[in-house]
Formats: sequence, structure tokens, C-alpha cells
Amino acid sequence: MTEKFIAPSILSADFTRLGDDIRMLNRSDADLIHCDVMDGVFVPNISFGVPVIQQVSHIAIKPLDVHLMIVNPDPYIDVFKQAGATFLTVHYEACTHLHRTIQQIRKADMKASVCLNPHTPVHLLEEIITDLDMVLIMSVNPGFGGQTFIESSYAKVSRLKELILARNAPALIEVDGGVNFETGKRLYDAGADILVAGSFVFQSGSPEETISRLKRL
Ligand code: DX5
Ligand code: ZN
Repeated sequence: MTEKFIAPSILSADFTRLGDDIRMLNRSDADLIHCDVMDGVFVPNISFGVPVIQQVSHIAIKPLDVHLMIVNPDPYIDVFKQAGATFLTVHYEACTHLHRTIQQIRKADMKASVCLNPHTPVHLLEEIITDLDMVLIMSVNPGFGGQTFIESSYAKVSRLKELILARNAPALIEVDGGVNFETGKRLYDAGADILVAGSFVFQSGSPEETISRLKRL
């Protein structure tokens, strides 16, 4: 059995006491801290940016998994490295020269990851899969927490797993959106390595316990 990782998304944290929520994640079984950056252009929402991530990095003891939902991410790659990102995810749909963007992320000494929106097929990664540390499959349309899981995502994860195995690529599979105990179990079974969970963790009575249970699915 492969190892299962959990990346709670702080988009659903209480921003008035963000430090407390980060310290809770430090104590928990979480493997990564997922940070959703939205620009109001690529997605119809604005979340938080570099100064918040920088301050989170000062108290987080888990690696930061930064998900950029922004157009033209290239000028910000080094900025997010300095802010403390370990994984940097860009969207396939937001990058005209994706190969160059990926090389820049690696050159900045971060793990390079590409995210696919629900409508973007896995086969578009064929030429670049061996250059990636991670692929992020969106199982909702990006922009908001608390949305309903898109059922076709299980098959998409399986197709990505097939591509990774066929190319003997090292990329991990992360899935983001609508993750709970039921969808999470089926995603791990389909080949996911890392599950992002926002509202399901932070709106549960005991986030720490929910994280432990997600890891044990
Ligand atoms: C959505 C974000 C997600 C979000 C997931 O655009 O990328 O990371 O926080 O939230 P839930 O787990 O509530 O669907
Ligand atoms: Zn995300």
C-alpha cells in the first residue's frame, strides 16, 4: 500500500485566528499546508497572497503547498520561494509556456506541480509528465471552498496514474475539492497520493481528529 498524505487547505481556516489554526496543523497528522492564492481574474474570487504566506511560513513546521490560481504566474515564482513555498502549483490553463514555467520553479528549488481544471484532459500532460513532482487534479471548479465533488474525477485520477506508471514518472497525484471520508477513500483507491481538504477539516468538530481519520482511510 502506498503512503497517504493530507494537505489541509487554510482557505477554510478562521483568518481572525490563523496562527492558532496553523499551530493546530503543526500538532496534527497533516503532511502539508495547502495555501490557495486567487487573483480574481483566473478564478472569480480573491483570497490571500504573499504577505500572508510569508507569515504563515514563520510558524508552520509543515511544508507549504502553494496553489496558484492566478494568470501569468511566472513573475511571482521567486517571490513565492522567498515567501516559504515548498511545492508550487501552477494551472495548465494559465500558462502559455508551461515547460519554461516548470523549469523556473525547479530552478528556484521548489517542487514543481501542474493543476488541471475539471475540463482539462490528462493527456495534455504527456509531454511534460516526467518533469513534474506533482499533478493536482481539481475535483471542483477552482475558486471556492465547500463545493460539491465532481464524480468524473475518480476516473481522471486513474487515467493520470496510468500515464505516470507508463512513463515511469515520479509525479505524485494530489486532488483538491469536495474531499470527505467517502470521496477521499475512493480517491486513494483510484491512485491519489495527497488529498487537499478545506471545509471538511475546518468545519468539523475536531479538525485534528478529522485529519487523522482522512489519513487512515
Ligand atoms: C478551491 C481550492 C481548494 C479549496 C478546497 O479552489 O483550490 O483548495 O480550499 O475546499 P474544499 O475542501 O472545501 O472543497
Ligand atoms: Zn487548492
